[in-house]
Amino acid sequence: MILKGKKGIVFGALDNQSIAWKVAERCVEEGAQIVLTNAPVAMRMGEINKLAEQCKAPVIPADATSLEDLENLVQKSVEHFGGKVDFVLHSIGMSVNVRKGKPYTDLNYDWMQKTFDVSAISFHKTMQTLWKLDAISDWGSIVGLTYIAAQRVFPDYSEMAESKALLESFARSFGYHLGTAKNVRVNTISQSPTMTTAGQGIKGFQEFFDYADKMSPLGNAPAEACADYCIALFSDLTRYVTMQNLFHDGGFSTMGMNPALVQ
Ligand SMILES: NC(=O)c1ccc[n+]([C@@H]2O[C@H](COP(=O)([O-])OP(=O)(O)OC[C@H]3O[C@@H](n4cnc5c(N)ncnc54)[C@H](O)[C@@H]3O)[C@@H](O)[C@H]2O)c1
Repeated sequence: MILKGKKGIVFGALDNQSIAWKVAERCVEEGAQIVLTNAPVAMRMGEINKLAEQCKAPVIPADATSLEDLENLVQKSVEHFGGKVDFVLHSIGMSVNVRKGKPYTDLNYDWMQKTFDVSAISFHKTMQTLWKLDAISDWGSIVGLTYIAAQRVFPDYSEMAESKALLESFARSFGYHLGTAKNVRVNTISQSPTMTTAGQGIKGFQEFFDYADKMSPLGNAPAEACADYCIALFSDLTRYVTMQNLFHDGGFSTMGMNPALVQ
């Protein structure tokens, strides 16, 4: 029960494969109260209501690119909790160019803007909304999910690589402001390839997944283990970890070559 008494907002649970879904389940197991949120369009699939029932959590729809929706979400969450928010998970990613099959050398820039807005600027917008409404508790914790394509080249990841680089930079920059003002920490977790809707949207994802799995001494980190790591970061056991990009990848990021792959 390391989150007993804590209150958090979980973005991005689409279905039971979603990393955010596992995080929501683990938060509640560890004694937290949560609010679930996703884009109104994702609500129509109806899956999130099952999770809400299981977690005894309200669902407050918000398009994470809309400041109006985010303000409504934060205000309603504070009302629901009867106090400030202790932790937030940002688990949102979507590339319009990848979805539409545009090659990296022929990107549509309007779509790219949309990709950055959904996948990265929404993280800044969420933190700015929490800041302006003074809705995050002292010693709170904010986590965003990212991928190693921010540092290394994975050609099929396309413009999502730049989205993740931006997301990680927002964690550092806003981490400074939130840390100085309120001792709030902001980190990103760089997760292994994971079989989810967003993951499988990337071309050649199975090969990607298998390669990383073989390269990593511990194998790919599953979504459930990512949820455990999020819980650790939301808990009081990690109060001085901030402005970090934390690899949760079975060792992949440190490997040069693995004989298992050559064989
Ligand atoms: N699956 C992987 O291989 C992998 C690896 C590393 C990092 N990540 C990251 O983990 C996070 C979660 O992805 P996932 O793999 O669980 O996939 P997922 O498809 O289950 O989750 C992505 C979520 O983003 C939400 N979303 C999209 N547009 C939105 C908007 N405008 N407003 C609010 N929400 C919106 C979707 O509805 C969905 O719930 C993403 O940031 C993703 O990039 C995934």
